[in-house]
Amino acid sequence: MNFEEIKNMEDQYQLNTYKKLPLAVERGEGVYVYDTNNKKYLDLYGGHAVALIGHSHPRVVNAISEQAKRLIFYSNVVYLEIRAKASKAIINVAPSDMTKVFFCNSGTEANETAMKIARKFTGKQTIIAMKNSFHGRTIGSLSATSLGNYRKQFSPLIEAFKFVQFGNINEIESALDDDTAGVILEPIQSMAGVEIADEQYYKTLRDICTDRGIVLIFDEVQTAFGRTGSWFFGDKIGVIPDIITTAKGIGGGIPIGAVLINEDISKTIKQGEHGSTFGGGPIAAAALLANIEVIRENNLVYNAEKVGNYIFDNLKDIPVVKDVKGRGLLIGIELNDDAVKVRDFLIGRGIITGTSAKKNTLRLLPPITLKENDLRIFFESLKEYKM
Ligand SMILES: Cc1ncc(COP(=O)(O)O)c(C=O)c1O
Repeated sequence: MNFEEIKNMEDQYQLNTYKKLPLAVERGEGVYVYDTNNKKYLDLYGGHAVALIGHSHPRVVNAISEQAKRLIFYSNVVYLEIRAKASKAIINVAPSDMTKVFFCNSGTEANETAMKIARKFTGKQTIIAMKNSFHGRTIGSLSATSLGNYRKQFSPLIEAFKFVQFGNINEIESALDDDTAGVILEPIQSMAGVEIADEQYYKTLRDICTDRGIVLIFDEVQTAFGRTGSWFFGDKIGVIPDIITTAKGIGGGIPIGAVLINEDISKTIKQGEHGSTFGGGPIAAAALLANIEVIRENNLVYNAEKVGNYIFDNLKDIPVVKDVKGRGLLIGIELNDDAVKVRDFLIGRGIITGTSAKKNTLRLLPPITLKENDLRIFFESLKEYKM
């Protein structure tokens, strides 16, 4: 089928909830995807931060096809060797305080899980969340989301949320009360335009939650597994939350979410209190395991930091670039022009990037397998962009 045929059919039958780029992707290999005309694109958007180790990584392809031949699915009512290995592998790369994993299928489900656990653990209701946050589209995670128009038209949402300015400890302190169960935040607010706080903010937040006995939740749906130059955001600065939620890139492209939970909390959770039919299914578990091995064996956590720094350095003297934010390969480029215009120009040059909630901020969420050499076309194109 050609592009027009695919577009027409998809538009006719798929619910019209997505604004799509004008291309049909046919295949992917590493940091590149190819459209129906065999045009090659450098994918600096990574299929929405999912293609963490590149598209169709052979190790993931092999792991899921071998697993599919043996067993495509069985739920958590039985034990599975592949799930056992995946559980051990993710706990081994997680901060040492995290001793248990709960598998689910998406970022929003991971956040729902974390917030349920925070409520149950503390016996309290209110969750403090951040202004400009994005945590997902299901009712609980949407209730924790304050960014843009996502909430509009779905009220009343769950009311027991209080929103404070990201990076501002005083606002957290004022929002705390006897009914606070926990605090949820993206350690780097990605959709908001890749905003990061001072190191001290995370440290003080950790101390406050510890002192109060409330649950600190890091939504690492975008930041986990090396993207920011460490396996998890807090690794480098020594700030470990009580619960980490992850999804997107952790399954090498296969849908999987994982909630990592510390020992104090996990030992309070009893059988039957939570579940998810597909959580930790064999295909997802095989993909997760292969993904972790690829990241570790190829030192991709270090690569993310190295190539991220290279991007920061090379964007400095480009006229359309005003400022660069982020860490590792989660990068927000503040532009002197409209981000949609620049994104569309780059698509024409064979480069896919993302936008954000900020009109002038372009986002890069590429595979962490990205090499310096891949990026020449990106810098050249940005230099040639006429404002
Ligand atoms: C930080 C963050 N949390 C949660 C989600 C929701 O993830 P999902 O779309 O897998 O439900 C996203 C998705 O973009 C996200 O960026």
